[in-house]
Amino acid sequence: KKVVLAYSGGLDTSVILKWLQDTYQCEIVTFTADLGQGEEVEPARTKAQALGVKEIYIDDLREEFVRDFVFPMFRANTIYEGEYLLGTSIARPLIAKRLVEIANETGADAISHGATGKGNDQVRFELGAYALKPGVKVIAPWREWDLLSREKLLAYAEQHNIPIERHGKKSPYSMDANLLHISYEGGVLEDTWSEHEEEMWRWSVSPENAPNTPTYIELTYRKGDIVAIDGVDMSPAQVLTYLNKVGGDNGIGRVDIVENRYVGMKARGCYETPGGTIMLKAHRAIESITLDREVMHLKDELMPKYATMIYNGYWWSPERHMMQAMIDASQANVNGVVRLKLYKGNIMVVGRKSDDSLFDAAVATFEDDAGAYDQQDAEGFIKLNALRLRIAASKGRNLL
Ligand code: ARG
Ligand code: SIN
Repeated sequence: KKVVLAYSGGLDTSVILKWLQDTYQCEIVTFTADLGQGEEVEPARTKAQALGVKEIYIDDLREEFVRDFVFPMFRANTIYEGEYLLGTSIARPLIAKRLVEIANETGADAISHGATGKGNDQVRFELGAYALKPGVKVIAPWREWDLLSREKLLAYAEQHNIPIERHGKKSPYSMDANLLHISYEGGVLEDTWSEHEEEMWRWSVSPENAPNTPTYIELTYRKGDIVAIDGVDMSPAQVLTYLNKVGGDNGIGRVDIVENRYVGMKARGCYETPGGTIMLKAHRAIESITLDREVMHLKDELMPKYATMIYNGYWWSPERHMMQAMIDASQANVNGVVRLKLYKGNIMVVGRKSDDSLFDAAVATFEDDAGAYDQQDAEGFIKLNALRLRIAASKGRNLL
């Protein structure tokens, strides 16, 4: 019996590692990913070794994460409940995929993770794993054990010689970070009326402390994805890293929200998504000149469904694949450049251009259009559209 554990190297997953060994007498394979969370991943190796683990996987998944998960999601202008850019949600399917790949490589029949039984993450990990490996067994220690308080967890760690880092004070929040965002939940945030504390934020300055002069940037798009910034070609992970930096420096991308979890409860969360917030705004700007109106409106109608699929953990589902094919097809002509002005938490679009632009200045002009558009056509257009309104009115409906 062998189990692949999604292992951060932190206290919780170290306790899980030990608990799995003791409870299931099984061999553990650890998997630690660099998703751009900004913490060293190598220390996980020594920690796993100290607990007797022989097969240790440490992967740099930053490029794959942005290229195959974040960018495809942003092609749809995805946002959950109008506010949440899905920073945690979109990383889970990649972790699920790697857990399954590693299980297949090492002959493991089970996977395990450190998500609690109250959240979305358990659903995302497990739906992903079942979709990719139907016979997989799942062990979710938080749903099984009795180490439900911090004290019990610490006592267990002490009892089993699991090092507890005393230096660097423990964050009072439940946090998750990757190249797309950093999240904060729990602690004082559980009171929906209490304002988040300024010291909580780690990636951005507050708008009040942002520079007094704006920053201009130009983003180049190819098929809906950013391929260069200020004329310099960049890989997907480089793009997001760069935008996080300029966004964070200008106080962009903080939200404080209450969201509906899939398991049924409301939860308060604070998120910093500087690069993602810029990408959403800029992508809409490049689409505004390159997409057909009906295509754009249809995308907008379907987007909330796509967002919910990702939030609820259905990345590896037939309906998400179907939606993705449609979204990707819409991006064939989404090429060009967007110019932005970043200033104290604001993102202002100041220019957009494209060789594939549908904006026709000859038609749109307020000046003489030299016959490009026949204004008399509008009369019949309006009359026919008014036909059913006039019939209804003639029958006494809709009258004042
Ligand atoms: N509420 C967010 C979501 O469901 C963030 C979850 C953060 N996860 C965590 N393990 N701290 O996507
Ligand atoms: C957790 O409960 O493990 C984190 C929060 C979530 O998954 O929604």
